[in-house]
Amino acid sequence: MRASALGPVCALLLLLLEPLHCGDEVTSSTVNPCCYFPCQHGGVCVRYAEDKYECDCTRTGYYGQNCTIPEFWTRVRGLLKPSPGVVHYILTHFRWLWDIINCSFLREVLMRLVLTVRSNLIPYPPTYNSKYGYLSWESYYNLSYYTRILPPVPEDCPTLLGVKGQAGLPDPELLVEKLLKRRTFRPDPQGSNLMFAFFAQHFTHQFFKTFNHMGVGFTKALAHGVDAGHIYGDNLERQLKLRMHKDGKLKYQLINGEMHLPTVEQAPVRMSYPPGVPPQNQVAIGQEVFGLLPGLGLYATLWLREHNRVCDVLKAEHPTWDDDQLFQTTRLIIIGETIRIVIEEYVQHLSGYLLQLKFDPTLLFNSQFQYGNRIALEFSQLYHWHPLMPDSFLIDGDELSYAQFLFNASVVSHYGVEKLVEAFSKQTAGQIGGGHNINSVVTNVAVRAIKESRQLRVQPFNEYRKRFNLEPYTSFQQFTDNEEIAAALEEFYGDIDTLEFYPALMLEKTRPAAIFGESMVEMGAPFSLKGLLGNPICSPEYWKPSTFGGKVGFDIVNSATLKKLVCQNTRTCPYISFRKQDARLPEFFSSPSHSLLNKPVSEDTNMDIL
Ligand code: HEM
Ligand SMILES: *[C@@H]1O[C@H](CO)[C@@H](O)[C@H](O)[C@H]1NC(C)=O
Ligand SMILES: *[C@@H]1O[C@H](CO)[C@@H](O)[C@H](O)[C@H]1NC(C)=O
Ligand SMILES: *[C@@H]1O[C@H](CO)[C@@H](O)[C@H](O)[C@H]1NC(C)=O
Ligand SMILES: *[C@@H]1O[C@H](CO)[C@@H](O)[C@H](O)[C@H]1NC(C)=O
Repeated sequence: MRASALGPVCALLLLLLEPLHCGDEVTSSTVNPCCYFPCQHGGVCVRYAEDKYECDCTRTGYYGQNCTIPEFWTRVRGLLKPSPGVVHYILTHFRWLWDIINCSFLREVLMRLVLTVRSNLIPYPPTYNSKYGYLSWESYYNLSYYTRILPPVPEDCPTLLGVKGQAGLPDPELLVEKLLKRRTFRPDPQGSNLMFAFFAQHFTHQFFKTFNHMGVGFTKALAHGVDAGHIYGDNLERQLKLRMHKDGKLKYQLINGEMHLPTVEQAPVRMSYPPGVPPQNQVAIGQEVFGLLPGLGLYATLWLREHNRVCDVLKAEHPTWDDDQLFQTTRLIIIGETIRIVIEEYVQHLSGYLLQLKFDPTLLFNSQFQYGNRIALEFSQLYHWHPLMPDSFLIDGDELSYAQFLFNASVVSHYGVEKLVEAFSKQTAGQIGGGHNINSVVTNVAVRAIKESRQLRVQPFNEYRKRFNLEPYTSFQQFTDNEEIAAALEEFYGDIDTLEFYPALMLEKTRPAAIFGESMVEMGAPFSLKGLLGNPICSPEYWKPSTFGGKVGFDIVNSATLKKLVCQNTRTCPYISFRKQDARLPEFFSSPSHSLLNKPVSEDTNMDIL
């Protein structure tokens, strides 16, 4: 132990007994032994005496003082298990093989494997939170906290990251300025476009709603998952103000004969706008911050139209149903549609997998899978994908600056849904990983994310690598092949074991021609899939036609696509995609499951009821 690791006791001793040398034993005995993160493979560190700890290795598959010795079957499994890199390589290469697998029972077998392997990494019931680094009823029961996959670094550790990083951590502003701020726009090599970027932001902000008024580490989204609270509000009072109370529908206004979001005058809910914006210029949406970006307003408009369209379909099926039953059942359909689009198009695109992903809850009915979900702080940190944002927004021949785009509710009604969908589908988004790609308008969000993670004592990146079955990095050169970034990190952090979670995810070397690196996928996918399949509608009790108003409603859920979401709710069917057309794998959207949607949508959609 180094002398600079002096605990308060030792410091006091030094003061009182100046001539006495403050020896190693004294110093080490004051450090909480769990600060060394001694327990491996998910073992739980429990402190007994000042300098005594035990690792609880129960059901980790390992034993020994630090849960490092594998049991026999663990050893066998370890020998057979391919590394994440190999699995990813197979899933993204050998097109001929996947063409065969997609059309056979193997598609289901592999999809089940993807779902179980990924979700098994996420504990449910949830474990820790930002206050409790040990299991507690409060942590389980108080939904206002985000949960934590790894407990926070104990308060009494010598440093913010345990015992390493004695020299202190780099200044967040400097870190972002030097390594994350954009120099010139670098497009995503996977071809993600703004339609994808705004979907990401819109979808995730139903469950990432940090509640800073309560303190750091709290959330306002108490449903902890895909509840469509970004459409309906995160509480009943707000929902009731957004509803028409007739036929299950949501309030809307007609502009040029088309359905648009109501204003705050029409649906009096609180929205976050800069001071001085009058209520008639504010749009009313379930998620209070969605007035910020027309891209979010666009998706809010699409889901508003879809909700009201589905209400009509259900009412035709069930003329006796009252407003509330139509509303509630439509909401479940909207949740189902969302999950399908997210898995089969959004995650499909993001993963780059050639395995055709499938949303089918019955795949899990014979495995032990816990329904339920709790959003983790690490998931929220990881999803700060601000590099996606371009330098300006190109719409129908105009170039809008951030100043013109942000908080400008008129953009959606001015251009209309069709033109915006087309524009966002054609404009490429930025690459998330690899550094140097956050537009300066939003660099401050990254700074705040880093500050938040320190306040909440998030463990070092390498501890998360181990938690998600990845080898910890041994050097900055291994971590990134960008020599400038490696050198800067070396200077900022000194020791790879002190590299922080969020900066690491943004700076890790990207996979070849990919949007980000290995860790973002290996850590993000488990949270994502657990959240999607852990939804109550995916459980055996719910997943049946009657839940969704019968066959007609169930069919809507089972055939939902992004394209239908747009084209059943617009007069003309614009070009729509999550991926820029000339990017890698252009044939993706003409795969069989999508091609049937290329037919023009008939006139008898909801638009003619307007
Ligand atoms: C120009 C576009 C964007 C702007 C102006 C913007 C701005 C912001 C701001 C001001 C915050 C709050 C920061 C804080 O209080 O600490 C935030 C949080 C966040 N942003 Fe963005 N953002 C944009 C795009 C995106 C995109 C495309 C994503 C992709 C998923 C994203 C993901 C997030 C996440 C996950 C959070 C944390 C939310 C929470 O914990 O409540 N943002 N953003
Ligand atoms: C367990 O971890 C501690 C702290 O990292 C270390 O000092 C000790 O040698 C380890 N014990 C074994 C048996 O590996
Ligand atoms: C299999 O799925 C992938 C990804 O969706 C796709 O690129 C490929 O064309 C599909 N092949 C067949 C035969 O469906
Ligand atoms: C959750 O914990 C916070 C912080 O201790 C507290 O303010 C809040 O009242 C708790 N919520 C519930 C429902 O107990
Ligand atoms: C809002 O967007 C419109 C285009 O819809 C644009 O003409 C106008 O300049 C923007 N408003 C501001 C304040 O920038």
